[in-house]
Amino acid sequence: MRSLYCGEVNESHLDQEVTLCGWAHRRRDHGGVIFVDLRDHKGLVQVVFDPDTEATFATAERVRNEFVLQVKGRVRRRPEGTVNLDMPTGQVEVLGKELNVLNTAETPPFQLDDKDVHEETRLRYRYIDLRRPEMQQRLRLRARITHCLRTFLDAQGFIDIETPLLTRSTPEGARDYLVPSRTHPGEFFALPQSPQLFKQLLMMSGMDRYYQIARCFRDEDLRADRQPEFTQLDIETSFMNEDEIMGMTETMVRELFRDVLAVDLPDPFPRMSYAESVHRFGTDRPDLRNPLELVDLGDVMQAVEFKVFSGPANDPGGRVAALRVPGGSDLSRKNIDEYTKYVSKYGARGLAYIKVNDVAAGLDGLQSPILKFLPEDVVEAIVTRTGVADGDLIFFGADRASVVNESLGALRVRLGIDRGLLEGEWKPVWVVDFPMFERDEKAGRWMALHHPFTAPNIDDPEVLAENPGTSLSRAYDMVLNGTELGGGSIRIHSTEMQETVLKLLGIGHEEAREKFGFLLDALKHGCPPHGGLAFGLDRLVMLMTGASSIREVMAFPKTQTAACPLTDAPSTVVTGQLIELGIHLRKPPEVDT
Ligand code: AMO
Ligand code: AMP
Repeated sequence: MRSLYCGEVNESHLDQEVTLCGWAHRRRDHGGVIFVDLRDHKGLVQVVFDPDTEATFATAERVRNEFVLQVKGRVRRRPEGTVNLDMPTGQVEVLGKELNVLNTAETPPFQLDDKDVHEETRLRYRYIDLRRPEMQQRLRLRARITHCLRTFLDAQGFIDIETPLLTRSTPEGARDYLVPSRTHPGEFFALPQSPQLFKQLLMMSGMDRYYQIARCFRDEDLRADRQPEFTQLDIETSFMNEDEIMGMTETMVRELFRDVLAVDLPDPFPRMSYAESVHRFGTDRPDLRNPLELVDLGDVMQAVEFKVFSGPANDPGGRVAALRVPGGSDLSRKNIDEYTKYVSKYGARGLAYIKVNDVAAGLDGLQSPILKFLPEDVVEAIVTRTGVADGDLIFFGADRASVVNESLGALRVRLGIDRGLLEGEWKPVWVVDFPMFERDEKAGRWMALHHPFTAPNIDDPEVLAENPGTSLSRAYDMVLNGTELGGGSIRIHSTEMQETVLKLLGIGHEEAREKFGFLLDALKHGCPPHGGLAFGLDRLVMLMTGASSIREVMAFPKTQTAACPLTDAPSTVVTGQLIELGIHLRKPPEVDT
Protein backbone atom coordinates (compact mmCIF):
# COMPACT_ATOMS: atom_id res chain seq x y z
CA MET A 1 0.00 0.00 0.00
CA ARG A 2 2.92 2.40 0.46
CA SER A 3 6.36 2.84 -0.99
CA LEU A 4 7.89 4.79 1.91
CA TYR A 5 7.12 6.35 5.26
CA CYS A 6 5.98 10.00 5.41
CA GLY A 7 8.80 11.01 7.75
CA GLU A 8 11.39 9.53 5.38
CA VAL A 9 10.69 11.61 2.28
CA ASN A 10 13.71 13.80 1.47
CA GLU A 11 15.76 15.33 -1.32
CA SER A 12 16.99 11.92 -2.44
CA HIS A 13 13.44 11.24 -3.66
CA LEU A 14 13.14 14.38 -5.80
CA ASP A 15 11.05 13.80 -8.93
CA GLN A 16 10.14 10.29 -7.82
CA GLU A 17 6.60 8.93 -7.58
CA VAL A 18 5.84 7.88 -4.01
CA THR A 19 2.85 6.28 -2.30
CA LEU A 20 2.35 7.34 1.31
CA CYS A 21 -0.12 6.27 3.99
CA GLY A 22 -0.91 8.08 7.21
CA TRP A 23 -3.11 10.45 9.15
CA ALA A 24 -4.04 13.99 8.16
CA HIS A 25 -2.25 15.94 10.85
CA ARG A 26 -3.46 19.32 9.61
CA ARG A 27 -5.19 20.62 6.52
CA ARG A 28 -4.85 24.19 5.31
CA ASP A 29 -6.68 25.88 2.48
CA HIS A 30 -4.53 28.51 0.83
CA GLY A 31 -6.71 30.16 -1.75
CA GLY A 32 -7.04 27.45 -4.33
CA VAL A 33 -4.29 25.19 -3.02
CA ILE A 34 -4.79 22.63 -0.22
CA PHE A 35 -1.94 21.57 2.05
CA VAL A 36 -2.19 18.39 4.09
CA ASP A 37 0.52 17.49 6.59
CA LEU A 38 0.50 13.71 6.38
CA ARG A 39 1.75 11.93 9.48
CA ASP A 40 2.99 8.47 10.35
CA HIS A 41 5.22 7.32 13.17
CA LYS A 42 8.33 8.45 11.29
CA GLY A 43 7.16 12.05 10.98
CA LEU A 44 5.26 14.53 8.82
CA VAL A 45 5.44 15.44 5.17
CA GLN A 46 3.65 18.24 3.40
CA VAL A 47 1.34 17.17 0.58
CA VAL A 48 0.01 19.78 -1.86
CA PHE A 49 -3.16 19.41 -3.88
CA ASP A 50 -3.83 21.89 -6.65
CA PRO A 51 -7.06 22.26 -8.64
CA ASP A 52 -5.40 20.92 -11.82
CA THR A 53 -6.27 17.39 -10.72
CA GLU A 54 -9.92 18.14 -10.19
CA ALA A 55 -11.31 14.95 -8.61
CA THR A 56 -8.35 14.61 -6.25
CA PHE A 57 -8.70 18.24 -5.25
CA ALA A 58 -12.38 17.73 -4.46
CA THR A 59 -11.49 14.77 -2.24
CA ALA A 60 -8.79 16.82 -0.50
CA GLU A 61 -11.41 19.44 0.33
CA ARG A 62 -13.28 16.81 2.37
CA VAL A 63 -10.24 15.81 4.39
CA ARG A 64 -10.34 16.64 8.08
CA ASN A 65 -7.87 16.12 10.92
CA GLU A 66 -7.04 12.46 11.65
CA PHE A 67 -8.57 11.10 8.42
CA VAL A 68 -6.57 8.10 7.24
CA LEU A 69 -5.20 8.70 3.75
CA GLN A 70 -3.29 7.08 0.95
CA VAL A 71 -1.56 9.56 -1.32
CA LYS A 72 0.23 9.00 -4.62
CA GLY A 73 2.33 11.88 -5.81
CA ARG A 74 5.60 13.30 -7.02
CA VAL A 75 8.28 14.63 -4.69
CA ARG A 76 9.41 18.14 -5.52
CA ARG A 77 11.55 20.84 -3.97
CA ARG A 78 9.63 23.35 -1.88
CA PRO A 79 9.45 26.81 -3.42
CA GLU A 80 12.00 29.37 -2.20
CA GLY A 81 10.94 30.84 1.16
CA THR A 82 8.76 27.91 2.20
CA VAL A 83 11.60 25.57 3.20
CA ASN A 84 11.22 24.46 6.84
CA LEU A 85 14.56 23.47 8.30
CA ASP A 86 12.94 22.35 11.59
CA MET A 87 11.35 19.41 9.77
CA PRO A 88 13.46 16.52 8.45
CA THR A 89 11.19 16.55 5.37
CA GLY A 90 11.16 20.36 5.27
CA GLN A 91 13.13 20.77 2.01
CA VAL A 92 10.54 18.91 -0.02
CA GLU A 93 6.83 18.40 -0.53
CA VAL A 94 4.70 15.89 -2.38
CA LEU A 95 2.46 17.07 -5.18
CA GLY A 96 -0.59 14.86 -4.67
CA LYS A 97 -1.91 13.18 -7.81
CA GLU A 98 -4.21 10.57 -6.29
CA LEU A 99 -5.88 10.68 -2.91
CA ASN A 100 -7.63 7.76 -1.34
CA VAL A 101 -9.56 8.34 1.91
CA LEU A 102 -9.02 5.01 3.69
CA ASN A 103 -11.09 6.14 6.63
CA THR A 104 -12.74 9.22 8.03
CA ALA A 105 -12.40 10.35 11.64
CA GLU A 106 -14.57 12.29 14.02
CA THR A 107 -13.16 15.55 15.34
CA PRO A 108 -10.54 14.38 17.85
CA PRO A 109 -11.21 15.17 21.53
CA PHE A 110 -7.92 17.05 21.64
CA GLN A 111 -5.26 18.28 19.25
CA LEU A 112 -2.20 16.08 19.11
CA ASP A 113 0.13 19.02 19.72
CA ASP A 114 -1.87 20.37 22.67
CA LYS A 115 0.39 19.96 25.70
CA ASP A 116 -2.25 20.66 28.37
CA VAL A 117 -4.72 17.84 27.92
CA HIS A 118 -6.04 16.40 31.16
CA GLU A 119 -4.51 13.00 31.86
CA GLU A 120 -7.90 11.35 32.32
CA THR A 121 -8.84 12.47 28.78
CA ARG A 122 -5.52 11.27 27.40
CA LEU A 123 -6.05 7.84 28.97
CA ARG A 124 -9.68 7.64 27.84
CA TYR A 125 -8.60 8.26 24.24
CA ARG A 126 -5.25 6.57 24.61
CA TYR A 127 -5.25 5.38 20.98
CA ILE A 128 -5.20 9.03 19.93
CA ASP A 129 -2.77 10.09 22.65
CA LEU A 130 -0.35 7.37 21.54
CA ARG A 131 -0.22 8.92 18.06
CA ARG A 132 1.78 11.82 19.52
CA PRO A 133 5.42 11.68 18.45
CA GLU A 134 6.72 11.68 22.04
CA MET A 135 4.54 8.71 22.98
CA GLN A 136 5.59 6.88 19.82
CA GLN A 137 9.23 7.50 20.65
CA ARG A 138 8.89 6.37 24.25
CA LEU A 139 7.17 3.08 23.42
CA ARG A 140 9.61 2.39 20.60
CA LEU A 141 12.53 3.10 22.93
CA ARG A 142 10.95 0.78 25.47
CA ALA A 143 10.88 -1.99 22.88
CA ARG A 144 14.53 -1.32 22.05
CA ILE A 145 15.44 -1.46 25.72
CA THR A 146 13.74 -4.82 26.28
CA HIS A 147 15.39 -6.10 23.11
CA CYS A 148 18.86 -5.07 24.37
CA LEU A 149 18.24 -6.59 27.79
CA ARG A 150 17.08 -9.86 26.27
CA THR A 151 20.05 -9.96 23.92
CA PHE A 152 22.45 -9.50 26.82
CA LEU A 153 20.80 -12.09 29.04
CA ASP A 154 20.41 -14.63 26.22
CA ALA A 155 24.13 -14.29 25.48
CA GLN A 156 24.90 -14.93 29.16
CA GLY A 157 22.98 -18.21 29.10
CA PHE A 158 19.81 -17.00 30.80
CA ILE A 159 16.59 -18.61 29.63
CA ASP A 160 13.22 -16.90 29.48
CA ILE A 161 10.64 -18.87 31.46
CA GLU A 162 7.05 -17.86 32.13
CA THR A 163 5.59 -18.26 35.61
CA PRO A 164 1.88 -18.37 36.52
CA LEU A 165 -0.29 -15.31 36.99
CA LEU A 166 -2.99 -17.27 38.79
CA THR A 167 -1.15 -18.22 41.94
CA ARG A 168 -0.91 -17.81 45.70
CA SER A 169 -0.09 -14.66 47.58
CA THR A 170 3.61 -13.75 47.19
CA PRO A 171 5.12 -11.84 50.06
CA GLU A 172 6.40 -8.51 48.71
CA GLY A 173 4.55 -6.48 51.30
CA ALA A 174 1.70 -4.94 49.30
CA ARG A 175 -1.97 -5.90 49.19
CA ASP A 176 -2.88 -8.67 46.73
CA TYR A 177 -5.19 -8.54 43.75
CA LEU A 178 -7.47 -11.54 44.21
CA VAL A 179 -9.21 -13.65 41.60
CA PRO A 180 -12.10 -15.84 42.74
CA SER A 181 -12.08 -19.47 41.71
CA ARG A 182 -15.27 -20.90 40.20
CA THR A 183 -14.17 -24.50 40.54
CA HIS A 184 -13.18 -24.07 44.17
CA PRO A 185 -15.98 -22.00 45.65
CA GLY A 186 -14.85 -19.64 48.41
CA GLU A 187 -11.22 -19.83 47.31
CA PHE A 188 -9.11 -17.25 45.57
CA PHE A 189 -6.02 -16.99 43.45
CA ALA A 190 -3.74 -14.04 44.03
CA LEU A 191 -2.03 -12.30 41.13
CA PRO A 192 1.73 -12.35 41.77
CA GLN A 193 3.38 -9.32 43.38
CA SER A 194 6.52 -10.77 41.81
CA PRO A 195 7.61 -14.19 40.50
CA GLN A 196 9.88 -14.51 43.57
CA LEU A 197 8.95 -17.98 44.77
CA PHE A 198 8.63 -19.49 41.31
CA LYS A 199 12.03 -18.23 40.23
CA GLN A 200 13.55 -19.78 43.35
CA LEU A 201 11.80 -23.04 42.52
CA LEU A 202 13.30 -22.83 39.00
CA MET A 203 16.77 -22.68 40.55
CA MET A 204 15.89 -25.77 42.57
CA SER A 205 14.82 -27.31 39.24
CA GLY A 206 18.31 -26.92 37.82
CA MET A 207 17.42 -24.19 35.30
CA ASP A 208 20.65 -22.44 36.35
CA ARG A 209 19.88 -19.01 34.92
CA TYR A 210 16.35 -17.62 34.50
CA TYR A 211 14.89 -14.33 33.40
CA GLN A 212 11.46 -13.04 32.56
CA ILE A 213 9.88 -9.78 31.57
CA ALA A 214 7.22 -10.32 34.15
CA ARG A 215 4.00 -8.53 34.93
CA CYS A 216 3.53 -7.90 38.66
CA PHE A 217 0.46 -6.75 40.57
CA ARG A 218 0.43 -4.75 43.78
CA ASP A 219 -2.56 -3.07 45.31
CA GLU A 220 -0.79 -0.14 46.96
CA ASP A 221 -0.98 3.65 47.00
CA LEU A 222 0.03 4.94 43.63
CA ARG A 223 2.64 7.56 42.84
CA ALA A 224 4.47 8.80 39.77
CA ASP A 225 6.73 5.76 39.89
CA ARG A 226 4.19 3.18 41.04
CA GLN A 227 1.45 1.41 39.17
CA PRO A 228 -0.84 -1.42 40.37
CA GLU A 229 0.26 -3.48 37.38
CA PHE A 230 3.87 -3.01 36.34
CA THR A 231 6.71 -4.90 34.69
CA GLN A 232 9.87 -6.32 36.16
CA LEU A 233 12.92 -7.60 34.40
CA ASP A 234 13.18 -10.53 36.78
CA ILE A 235 16.45 -12.45 37.09
CA GLU A 236 17.64 -15.42 39.13
CA THR A 237 20.80 -17.49 38.96
CA SER A 238 22.39 -20.40 40.77
CA PHE A 239 25.99 -20.59 41.95
CA MET A 240 26.78 -16.88 41.78
CA ASN A 241 27.56 -14.70 44.78
CA GLU A 242 26.41 -11.12 45.28
CA ASP A 243 29.53 -9.57 43.76
CA GLU A 244 29.10 -11.68 40.64
CA ILE A 245 25.41 -10.85 40.33
CA MET A 246 25.99 -7.14 40.88
CA GLY A 247 28.90 -7.17 38.45
CA MET A 248 26.95 -8.91 35.73
CA THR A 249 23.79 -6.82 36.03
CA GLU A 250 25.65 -3.53 36.14
CA THR A 251 27.47 -4.59 32.96
CA MET A 252 24.04 -5.20 31.45
CA VAL A 253 22.86 -1.71 32.43
CA ARG A 254 26.13 -0.14 31.23
CA GLU A 255 25.78 -1.83 27.83
CA LEU A 256 22.15 -0.81 27.63
CA PHE A 257 22.98 2.86 28.24
CA ARG A 258 25.82 2.74 25.75
CA ASP A 259 23.74 1.08 23.02
CA VAL A 260 20.54 3.05 23.46
CA LEU A 261 21.64 6.45 24.74
CA ALA A 262 25.36 6.52 23.87
CA VAL A 263 26.01 7.25 27.56
CA ASP A 264 29.00 5.81 29.44
CA LEU A 265 28.07 4.93 33.01
CA PRO A 266 30.85 4.52 35.59
CA ASP A 267 32.69 1.18 35.74
CA PRO A 268 32.27 -0.14 38.38
CA PHE A 269 29.21 1.50 39.91
CA PRO A 270 30.04 2.94 43.33
CA ARG A 271 28.71 1.05 46.35
CA MET A 272 27.41 2.52 49.57
CA SER A 273 26.16 0.89 52.72
CA TYR A 274 22.57 1.41 53.78
CA ALA A 275 23.81 3.00 57.02
CA GLU A 276 25.98 5.53 55.21
CA SER A 277 23.24 6.36 52.74
CA VAL A 278 20.66 7.03 55.43
CA HIS A 279 23.19 8.95 57.51
CA ARG A 280 24.29 11.24 54.69
CA PHE A 281 21.12 11.54 52.63
CA GLY A 282 18.25 10.45 54.88
CA THR A 283 17.24 7.75 52.38
CA ASP A 284 18.32 4.40 50.97
CA ARG A 285 17.89 5.63 47.41
CA PRO A 286 20.21 8.61 47.24
CA ASP A 287 20.41 10.90 44.23
CA LEU A 288 24.17 11.35 44.03
CA ARG A 289 23.78 14.22 41.58
CA ASN A 290 22.64 16.27 44.57
CA PRO A 291 25.59 17.63 46.61
CA LEU A 292 23.58 18.40 49.79
CA GLU A 293 24.19 16.19 52.84
CA LEU A 294 22.69 15.81 56.28
CA VAL A 295 25.05 16.67 59.14
CA ASP A 296 24.52 15.12 62.58
CA LEU A 297 24.31 17.45 65.56
CA GLY A 298 22.87 15.14 68.22
CA ASP A 299 25.99 15.15 70.39
CA VAL A 300 26.19 18.96 70.62
CA MET A 301 22.46 19.37 71.31
CA GLN A 302 22.20 17.08 74.32
CA ALA A 303 22.63 19.83 76.91
CA VAL A 304 20.79 22.71 75.24
CA GLU A 305 17.68 24.09 76.90
CA PHE A 306 15.74 24.11 73.63
CA LYS A 307 13.64 20.98 74.15
CA VAL A 308 12.89 20.63 70.44
CA PHE A 309 16.57 19.73 69.99
CA SER A 310 17.63 18.26 73.33
CA GLY A 311 14.69 15.82 73.42
CA PRO A 312 15.59 13.86 70.29
CA ALA A 313 19.32 14.38 70.99
CA ASN A 314 18.97 12.39 74.22
CA ASP A 315 16.68 9.76 72.76
CA PRO A 316 18.46 6.72 71.27
CA GLY A 317 15.73 6.56 68.60
CA GLY A 318 15.99 10.27 67.86
CA ARG A 319 18.08 12.31 65.47
CA VAL A 320 19.08 15.97 65.24
CA ALA A 321 20.51 16.90 61.87
CA ALA A 322 21.24 19.94 59.77
CA LEU A 323 21.10 20.57 56.04
CA ARG A 324 23.25 23.36 54.66
CA VAL A 325 21.80 25.21 51.68
CA PRO A 326 24.54 27.05 49.79
CA GLY A 327 23.42 30.60 49.03
CA GLY A 328 20.16 29.86 50.86
CA SER A 329 19.98 33.11 52.84
CA ASP A 330 18.10 34.57 49.88
CA LEU A 331 15.12 32.39 50.85
CA SER A 332 12.20 34.56 51.93
CA ARG A 333 9.96 34.01 54.94
CA LYS A 334 7.36 32.75 52.45
CA ASN A 335 9.81 30.25 50.88
CA ILE A 336 10.74 28.93 54.31
CA ASP A 337 7.06 28.61 55.26
CA GLU A 338 6.49 26.61 52.08
CA TYR A 339 9.37 24.26 52.89
CA THR A 340 8.05 23.93 56.46
CA LYS A 341 4.69 22.88 55.05
CA TYR A 342 6.44 20.49 52.68
CA VAL A 343 8.36 18.67 55.43
CA SER A 344 5.23 18.47 57.57
CA LYS A 345 3.92 15.95 55.01
CA TYR A 346 6.72 13.69 56.22
CA GLY A 347 5.79 14.18 59.86
CA ALA A 348 8.19 17.02 60.74
CA ARG A 349 6.73 19.32 63.39
CA GLY A 350 8.76 22.32 62.31
CA LEU A 351 11.74 23.43 60.29
CA ALA A 352 14.14 25.54 62.32
CA TYR A 353 16.72 27.52 60.33
CA ILE A 354 19.67 29.86 60.68
CA LYS A 355 20.59 32.39 58.02
CA VAL A 356 24.31 33.00 57.73
CA ASN A 357 25.01 36.61 56.74
CA ASP A 358 28.60 36.95 57.91
CA VAL A 359 30.50 33.98 59.35
CA ALA A 360 33.39 36.15 60.57
CA ALA A 361 31.03 38.27 62.68
CA GLY A 362 30.18 35.32 64.94
CA LEU A 363 26.70 35.40 66.51
CA ASP A 364 26.05 38.88 65.11
CA GLY A 365 26.45 37.53 61.62
CA LEU A 366 23.64 34.99 62.08
CA GLN A 367 19.90 35.45 61.94
CA SER A 368 17.33 33.03 63.36
CA PRO A 369 14.44 32.75 65.79
CA ILE A 370 16.19 29.85 67.56
CA LEU A 371 19.53 31.55 68.28
CA LYS A 372 18.25 32.77 71.62
CA PHE A 373 17.83 29.14 72.72
CA LEU A 374 21.34 28.04 71.82
CA PRO A 375 24.60 28.74 73.73
CA GLU A 376 27.50 30.22 71.79
CA ASP A 377 29.65 27.07 71.75
CA VAL A 378 26.78 25.08 70.26
CA VAL A 379 26.31 27.71 67.55
CA GLU A 380 30.04 27.55 66.85
CA ALA A 381 29.87 23.78 66.54
CA ILE A 382 26.96 24.10 64.09
CA VAL A 383 28.90 26.60 61.98
CA THR A 384 32.07 24.49 61.92
CA ARG A 385 30.40 21.18 61.32
CA THR A 386 28.14 22.33 58.51
CA GLY A 387 31.01 24.28 56.95
CA VAL A 388 28.75 27.20 56.07
CA ALA A 389 29.87 30.28 54.16
CA ASP A 390 28.43 33.79 53.99
CA GLY A 391 25.03 33.77 52.31
CA ASP A 392 24.16 30.18 53.28
CA LEU A 393 21.20 28.91 55.25
CA ILE A 394 20.99 25.91 57.58
CA PHE A 395 17.79 23.91 58.07
CA PHE A 396 17.33 21.67 61.12
CA GLY A 397 15.35 18.54 61.77
CA ALA A 398 14.88 17.10 65.23
CA ASP A 399 12.58 14.17 65.90
CA ARG A 400 12.47 10.39 65.75
CA ALA A 401 15.26 9.37 63.37
CA SER A 402 12.79 8.07 60.80
CA VAL A 403 10.95 11.40 60.70
CA VAL A 404 14.18 13.42 60.39
CA ASN A 405 15.50 11.12 57.68
CA GLU A 406 12.32 11.20 55.66
CA SER A 407 11.65 14.91 56.02
CA LEU A 408 15.19 16.24 55.55
CA GLY A 409 15.79 13.56 52.90
CA ALA A 410 12.77 14.82 50.94
CA LEU A 411 13.74 18.46 51.54
CA ARG A 412 17.19 17.72 50.17
CA VAL A 413 15.68 16.34 46.96
CA ARG A 414 13.32 19.30 46.64
CA LEU A 415 16.08 21.89 47.25
CA GLY A 416 18.30 20.15 44.73
CA ILE A 417 15.63 20.68 42.07
CA ASP A 418 14.36 24.11 43.17
CA ARG A 419 17.84 25.57 43.38
CA GLY A 420 19.30 23.83 40.34
CA LEU A 421 21.99 22.07 42.35
CA LEU A 422 22.12 18.74 40.47
CA GLU A 423 25.57 17.90 39.08
CA GLY A 424 26.17 15.45 36.24
CA GLU A 425 23.60 13.51 34.29
CA TRP A 426 23.66 9.88 35.41
CA LYS A 427 24.76 8.74 38.89
CA PRO A 428 24.14 5.07 39.60
CA VAL A 429 24.99 3.53 42.98
CA TRP A 430 24.56 0.13 44.60
CA VAL A 431 23.16 0.33 48.10
CA VAL A 432 24.34 -2.70 50.09
CA ASP A 433 24.60 -4.01 53.67
CA PHE A 434 20.93 -3.57 54.47
CA PRO A 435 19.76 -4.51 57.93
CA MET A 436 18.22 -7.96 57.83
CA PHE A 437 15.22 -6.86 59.90
CA GLU A 438 13.43 -3.68 60.76
CA ARG A 439 11.55 -3.22 64.00
CA ASP A 440 7.86 -2.48 63.68
CA GLU A 441 7.33 -0.77 67.02
CA LYS A 442 3.54 -0.63 66.69
CA ALA A 443 3.21 -4.33 65.98
CA GLY A 444 6.09 -5.11 68.36
CA ARG A 445 7.81 -7.44 65.91
CA TRP A 446 10.56 -7.74 63.33
CA MET A 447 9.85 -7.14 59.67
CA ALA A 448 11.97 -8.25 56.70
CA LEU A 449 13.57 -5.21 55.10
CA HIS A 450 13.66 -7.00 51.76
CA HIS A 451 11.57 -10.19 51.75
CA PRO A 452 11.60 -13.28 53.99
CA PHE A 453 13.76 -15.32 51.57
CA THR A 454 16.76 -13.00 51.64
CA ALA A 455 19.85 -14.55 53.20
CA PRO A 456 21.51 -12.94 56.22
CA ASN A 457 25.26 -12.38 56.11
CA ILE A 458 25.58 -14.77 59.07
CA ASP A 459 25.61 -18.49 58.30
CA ASP A 460 24.59 -19.73 61.72
CA PRO A 461 20.83 -19.58 62.40
CA GLU A 462 21.44 -19.53 66.15
CA VAL A 463 23.70 -16.50 65.94
CA LEU A 464 21.10 -14.77 63.78
CA ALA A 465 18.33 -15.54 66.24
CA GLU A 466 20.37 -13.91 68.99
CA ASN A 467 21.13 -10.72 67.02
CA PRO A 468 18.19 -9.90 64.79
CA GLY A 469 18.57 -6.15 65.33
CA THR A 470 22.19 -5.94 64.22
CA SER A 471 22.32 -8.54 61.45
CA LEU A 472 22.81 -7.43 57.89
CA SER A 473 21.37 -9.13 54.82
CA ARG A 474 22.95 -10.10 51.51
CA ALA A 475 20.63 -7.74 49.63
CA TYR A 476 21.52 -5.04 47.12
CA ASP A 477 19.57 -2.25 45.42
CA MET A 478 20.56 -0.49 42.22
CA VAL A 479 19.72 3.19 42.52
CA LEU A 480 19.91 5.65 39.63
CA ASN A 481 19.47 9.39 40.15
CA GLY A 482 17.41 8.85 43.29
CA THR A 483 15.14 6.15 41.84
CA GLU A 484 15.31 2.54 43.03
CA LEU A 485 15.72 0.80 39.71
CA GLY A 486 16.02 -2.69 41.04
CA GLY A 487 16.73 -4.82 44.03
CA GLY A 488 17.57 -8.35 44.94
CA SER A 489 19.54 -10.61 47.18
CA ILE A 490 21.22 -13.92 47.74
CA ARG A 491 18.48 -16.24 49.00
CA ILE A 492 18.33 -18.58 51.90
CA HIS A 493 18.94 -22.12 50.66
CA SER A 494 18.87 -24.03 53.92
CA THR A 495 15.69 -25.20 55.60
CA GLU A 496 16.99 -24.43 59.06
CA MET A 497 17.87 -20.84 58.19
CA GLN A 498 14.57 -20.31 56.40
CA GLU A 499 12.63 -21.60 59.37
CA THR A 500 14.64 -19.41 61.76
CA VAL A 501 13.98 -16.29 59.69
CA LEU A 502 10.26 -17.03 59.40
CA LYS A 503 10.13 -17.56 63.14
CA LEU A 504 11.92 -14.25 63.80
CA LEU A 505 9.36 -12.58 61.54
CA GLY A 506 6.63 -13.95 63.77
CA ILE A 507 5.44 -16.44 61.16
CA GLY A 508 4.69 -19.60 63.11
CA HIS A 509 5.23 -23.14 61.87
CA GLU A 510 1.56 -23.63 60.94
CA GLU A 511 1.34 -20.36 59.07
CA ALA A 512 4.66 -20.98 57.31
CA ARG A 513 3.49 -24.43 56.20
CA GLU A 514 0.20 -23.05 54.99
CA LYS A 515 1.76 -20.12 53.08
CA PHE A 516 5.06 -21.43 51.77
CA GLY A 517 5.04 -25.13 52.60
CA PHE A 518 5.88 -25.90 48.96
CA LEU A 519 9.02 -23.76 49.18
CA LEU A 520 10.10 -25.24 52.51
CA ASP A 521 9.65 -28.73 51.06
CA ALA A 522 11.62 -27.81 47.93
CA LEU A 523 14.52 -26.55 50.06
CA LYS A 524 14.92 -30.09 51.34
CA HIS A 525 15.33 -31.62 47.90
CA GLY A 526 18.72 -30.36 46.81
CA CYS A 527 18.47 -26.58 46.61
CA PRO A 528 21.55 -24.89 45.12
CA PRO A 529 22.87 -21.59 46.49
CA HIS A 530 21.10 -18.94 44.41
CA GLY A 531 20.23 -15.30 44.17
CA GLY A 532 18.94 -12.69 41.79
CA LEU A 533 17.23 -9.41 41.43
CA ALA A 534 14.41 -7.60 39.67
CA PHE A 535 14.51 -4.31 37.84
CA GLY A 536 11.49 -2.07 37.58
CA LEU A 537 11.37 -1.97 33.77
CA ASP A 538 8.89 0.93 33.71
CA ARG A 539 11.15 2.99 35.95
CA LEU A 540 14.20 2.20 33.85
CA VAL A 541 12.39 3.31 30.69
CA MET A 542 11.03 6.39 32.47
CA LEU A 543 14.55 7.49 33.40
CA MET A 544 16.02 6.67 30.00
CA THR A 545 13.31 8.60 28.12
CA GLY A 546 13.30 11.51 30.57
CA ALA A 547 9.57 10.97 31.22
CA SER A 548 8.03 12.40 34.37
CA SER A 549 6.03 9.33 35.34
CA ILE A 550 5.94 5.62 34.53
CA ARG A 551 2.46 6.20 33.07
CA GLU A 552 4.20 8.01 30.20
CA VAL A 553 6.09 4.85 29.22
CA MET A 554 3.22 2.34 29.52
CA ALA A 555 0.80 1.91 26.64
CA PHE A 556 -2.31 1.54 28.78
CA PRO A 557 -1.61 2.56 32.38
CA LYS A 558 -4.09 3.01 35.21
CA THR A 559 -5.03 6.33 36.77
CA GLN A 560 -3.99 7.47 40.25
CA THR A 561 -7.06 5.68 41.61
CA ALA A 562 -6.09 2.42 39.85
CA ALA A 563 -8.74 2.56 37.16
CA CYS A 564 -8.67 2.42 33.36
CA PRO A 565 -10.73 5.25 31.80
CA LEU A 566 -10.40 3.64 28.36
CA THR A 567 -12.15 0.34 29.14
CA ASP A 568 -13.85 1.66 32.25
CA ALA A 569 -12.32 -1.10 34.35
CA PRO A 570 -12.85 -2.13 37.07
CA SER A 571 -16.56 -2.62 36.53
CA THR A 572 -19.53 -4.30 38.12
CA VAL A 573 -20.49 -7.75 36.88
CA VAL A 574 -23.83 -9.39 36.32
CA THR A 575 -25.36 -11.19 39.26
CA GLY A 576 -25.15 -14.51 37.43
CA GLN A 577 -21.36 -14.27 37.36
CA LEU A 578 -21.26 -13.60 41.09
CA ILE A 579 -23.54 -16.52 41.84
CA GLU A 580 -21.37 -18.82 39.72
CA LEU A 581 -18.37 -17.70 41.77
CA GLY A 582 -20.23 -18.12 45.04
CA ILE A 583 -19.83 -14.44 45.82
CA HIS A 584 -22.35 -12.36 47.68
CA LEU A 585 -21.60 -8.64 47.89
CA ARG A 586 -21.92 -7.19 51.39
CA LYS A 587 -22.94 -3.85 49.91
CA PRO A 588 -24.43 -4.02 46.43
CA PRO A 589 -23.05 -1.33 44.10
CA GLU A 590 -25.22 1.73 43.55
CA VAL A 591 -26.94 1.27 40.22
CA ASP A 592 -26.84 4.29 37.94
CA THR A 593 -30.46 4.73 36.80
P1 AMO B 1 11.02 -5.26 44.72
O1 AMO B 1 9.75 -5.31 45.48
O2 AMO B 1 12.10 -4.35 45.23
O3 AMO B 1 11.69 -6.68 44.63
O4 AMO B 1 10.70 -4.88 43.21
C1 AMO B 1 11.73 -4.78 42.24
C2 AMO B 1 11.61 -3.49 41.47
O5 AMO B 1 10.33 -3.34 40.88
C3 AMO B 1 9.98 -1.96 40.80
N1 AMO B 1 8.66 -1.76 41.42
C4 AMO B 1 7.64 -1.08 40.87
N2 AMO B 1 7.55 -0.41 39.72
C5 AMO B 1 6.38 0.16 39.42
N3 AMO B 1 5.28 0.11 40.20
C6 AMO B 1 5.32 -0.55 41.38
N4 AMO B 1 4.22 -0.63 42.14
C7 AMO B 1 6.55 -1.18 41.76
N5 AMO B 1 6.94 -1.90 42.84
C8 AMO B 1 8.22 -2.25 42.61
C9 AMO B 1 11.07 -1.19 41.50
C10 AMO B 1 11.76 -2.24 42.32
O6 AMO B 1 13.12 -1.94 42.52
N6 AMO B 1 11.13 -10.28 44.20
C11 AMO B 1 11.92 -9.08 44.50
C12 AMO B 1 13.15 -9.01 43.64
C13 AMO B 1 14.21 -10.00 44.01
O7 AMO B 1 14.51 -10.14 45.22
O8 AMO B 1 14.76 -10.63 43.10
C14 AMO B 1 11.07 -7.86 44.25
O9 AMO B 1 10.00 -7.89 43.70
O10 AMO B 1 11.96 -0.64 40.53
P1 AMP C 1 8.82 26.77 68.43
O1 AMP C 1 9.62 27.03 69.67
O2 AMP C 1 7.94 25.56 68.46
O3 AMP C 1 8.14 28.01 67.88
O4 AMP C 1 9.90 26.41 67.33
C1 AMP C 1 10.97 27.27 67.03
C2 AMP C 1 11.51 26.89 65.67
O5 AMP C 1 11.89 25.52 65.69
C3 AMP C 1 10.56 27.08 64.53
O6 AMP C 1 11.31 27.61 63.44
C4 AMP C 1 10.07 25.69 64.22
O7 AMP C 1 9.80 25.56 62.83
C5 AMP C 1 11.28 24.86 64.61
N1 AMP C 1 10.92 23.50 65.03
C6 AMP C 1 9.94 23.08 65.86
N2 AMP C 1 9.93 21.74 65.99
C7 AMP C 1 10.94 21.29 65.21
C8 AMP C 1 11.45 20.00 64.88
N3 AMP C 1 10.94 18.88 65.42
N4 AMP C 1 12.51 19.92 64.02
C9 AMP C 1 13.04 21.04 63.49
N5 AMP C 1 12.60 22.26 63.74
C10 AMP C 1 11.58 22.41 64.59
